[in-house]
Amino acid sequence: MKSLVTKILFKFIIGVLFIAIIMKGEIPSVFAKKNNHDVQLSKKSDSSKDVDDVDDDVDDDEDDEGEDDEEGEDEEGSHNAGRNCLTSGCHSGSGEERFSIGGTIYTDADGTDARVGAKIKVIDTNGSTATLTSNQIGNFYTEKSMTAPFTITASYQGRDVEMPTVASGGGCNADGCHAEGSSAGRIFISTNDLDLTGTVTESSSDGGPSEISYNSDIKSILDAKCISCHQSGGAKSDVPLTTYAEVTDTKLVTPGSADSLLIRKLNKDLSEGTMWVNLNSTSEYNKIKDWIVVYNAQEYSSSQGSAGAAISDAKVKLSKNGRVKYKTTTDSTGAFVLEKVKAGKYTLKVFKKGYKRHTQSYQMNQSNSTSLEIMLNKK
Ligand code: HEC
Repeated sequence: MKSLVTKILFKFIIGVLFIAIIMKGEIPSVFAKKNNHDVQLSKKSDSSKDVDDVDDDVDDDEDDEGEDDEEGEDEEGSHNAGRNCLTSGCHSGSGEERFSIGGTIYTDADGTDARVGAKIKVIDTNGSTATLTSNQIGNFYTEKSMTAPFTITASYQGRDVEMPTVASGGGCNADGCHAEGSSAGRIFISTNDLDLTGTVTESSSDGGPSEISYNSDIKSILDAKCISCHQSGGAKSDVPLTTYAEVTDTKLVTPGSADSLLIRKLNKDLSEGTMWVNLNSTSEYNKIKDWIVVYNAQEYSSSQGSAGAAISDAKVKLSKNGRVKYKTTTDSTGAFVLEKVKAGKYTLKVFKKGYKRHTQSYQMNQSNSTSLEIMLNKK
């Protein structure tokens, strides 16, 4: 009996000691961490945020997304997130700290929550670069002297969101730019990555490469450069460009006519050609123009006929900077799904023994992703 009491007492003491040791070890380390974090942050916001040519290729396997600490720093907490910081008297003209670039980045298009820790890479017209990090309230800025126009890419944990056009100034929230309710909307990087789906089928003939069709040539251009703004229900433009029917709406395309609105909006020599900056490629412009004028805006090129039999077990790979990031194989119906693809520019390759390899560039967007239709030619 006595020994049982001793045993229980002993266990109790061990238990208390154990807890005490854990507490001792843990509490200070929690504080230490927290302090470190704060020190780092305030250091960052004190010193200039410019980091030249920082490798912004964030490790994709990193899944630590718990950094979105809601409580802002005292000073920054009220610091005008989402407002134009480059107004005179603030951070431009004779203002205190003069910013060449300043903006705010969010976690979604509504601009509700700040995206903390995003890297904003800015390249100015002289090739000078700066990589800025968004702070606790999503603000990023630099005092480094930089000359517009800027090419800007925002990255967060392997997701890259490139501004489709060059920025003519550094005030991201200037009126008419990314301010609330503006046409381009808030800048955001979402971590709700979308799936990329598609089908792989056999091309029913070995289609001549000179033929231009919507499915094999035009859709991939519009998907990469236009649909981020032009989608149904899109806030930026009420003209969706995601399907053949939408693109060839009689308002946009008159088969055979160079006077089609779609061509005029992309013609850099016309004042009407306001969409040229989004395309910014003469070869793609010529392709779209020839598709409409020479090939009468056909859906499938005539020599290719319509899509043939489904190809199962084809390998589908999405790679970035030469590294395969996502891969899968098609099922018995030729369909594939690449799950949760992070936003960014990829190279898509499809292989199947006995067929020519298909390669194309693919821009993964954050707000929509249309299904791909890929046709492979027999070798
Ligand atoms: C950054 C957002 C954005 C991107 C990217 C974009 N557009 Fe637009 N687009 C707009 C807005 C806003 C309008 C309406 C204002 C205007 O006509 O300039 C528009 C208008 C148009 C119109 C005229 C529609 C009409 O009813 O008058 C066409 C055609 C068009 N865009 C084609 C394209 C094509 C093709 C691309 C891809 C190369 C593209 N756009 C990329 C935002 C965009």
